[in-house]
Amino acid sequence: MRVAVAGGTGLVGKMVVRGLEQAGHHAVVLSRANGVDLTTGQGLVERLHGCDAIIDVTNQNTINKKAAVEFFGAVTSHLLEAGVQAGVGHIVTLSIVGVDEVDLGYYFGKRKQEELVSKGPLPWTILRATQFHEFPEPLLDGRSPVVVVPKMLSRPVAAADVAAELVKLVAQPAGGYVRPIAGPEELRMSDMAKRTARARGTHKLVLPVRLPGRVGKAMIGGALLPQGPFTKATRTFAEHIAELDVHRGATR
Ligand SMILES: NC(=O)c1ccc[n+]([C@@H]2O[C@H](COP(=O)([O-])OP(=O)(O)OC[C@H]3O[C@@H](n4cnc5c(N)ncnc54)[C@H](OP(=O)(O)O)[C@@H]3O)[C@@H](O)[C@H]2O)c1
Repeated sequence: MRVAVAGGTGLVGKMVVRGLEQAGHHAVVLSRANGVDLTTGQGLVERLHGCDAIIDVTNQNTINKKAAVEFFGAVTSHLLEAGVQAGVGHIVTLSIVGVDEVDLGYYFGKRKQEELVSKGPLPWTILRATQFHEFPEPLLDGRSPVVVVPKMLSRPVAAADVAAELVKLVAQPAGGYVRPIAGPEELRMSDMAKRTARARGTHKLVLPVRLPGRVGKAMIGGALLPQGPFTKATRTFAEHIAELDVHRGATR
């Protein structure tokens, strides 16, 4: 198969591209670094010609509702319109478990994305995943010695396991909302951040903070956990931390 990977240079996108190639498919990367700005859609139809399917793992890091809705709205609309014109037969979109339960600004963007895909013109599959093991890392990247981490309960999953699931799904007929994917254990995000900081050898103080109102209550109360049956990925957070330790040892 020839598969376009929107966001194929990102964290999970790179793993999707690798997984497609290992499975004998051909990946066409769509990202600004590869000359396609999906918020304008310029040149997209040409890039999609000959593609059987699209996997959408684009992202914009924002907590702002308007920015998130604008980004996911524009990117998704362009992928769908150009996909129809180019004769693409399937779009597989990655979303997040609990997006419709928690009113975070970013999640409004993901809801817009899901709505456009599920009501759109292409046969579709939406896979919802929980937070990646890598989730705390950008929070620790800043210069401040104190890192504020939202209090939330998660069942984190390895981005590699999510990528493998997307590669599997794209070769199957469109499945609509498929079983979400989550990891093997429930963890607090603040504990994940502390363990990540230790593995990175930083001595930052991780400060768990409850987000205000209903959002904070939902995040602590399990609204971001799968509510029904889910695909249980096997890689543990401890394995992820062990890999960070090895990586750090190699660069010391
Ligand atoms: N992180 C999590 O815990 C988690 C959990 C569940 C689901 N998800 C979902 O997984 C998806 C991928 O997340 P990620 O963390 O892997 O993303 P990421 O590392 O931030 O990568 C984002 C990708 O989108 C591309 N992109 C951004 N703006 C673009 C534009 N205007 N035009 C074309 N490409 C653009 C980037 O490439 P360029 O910069 O080169 O354009 C990059 O390839 C997101 O939809 C997210 O909601 C994430």
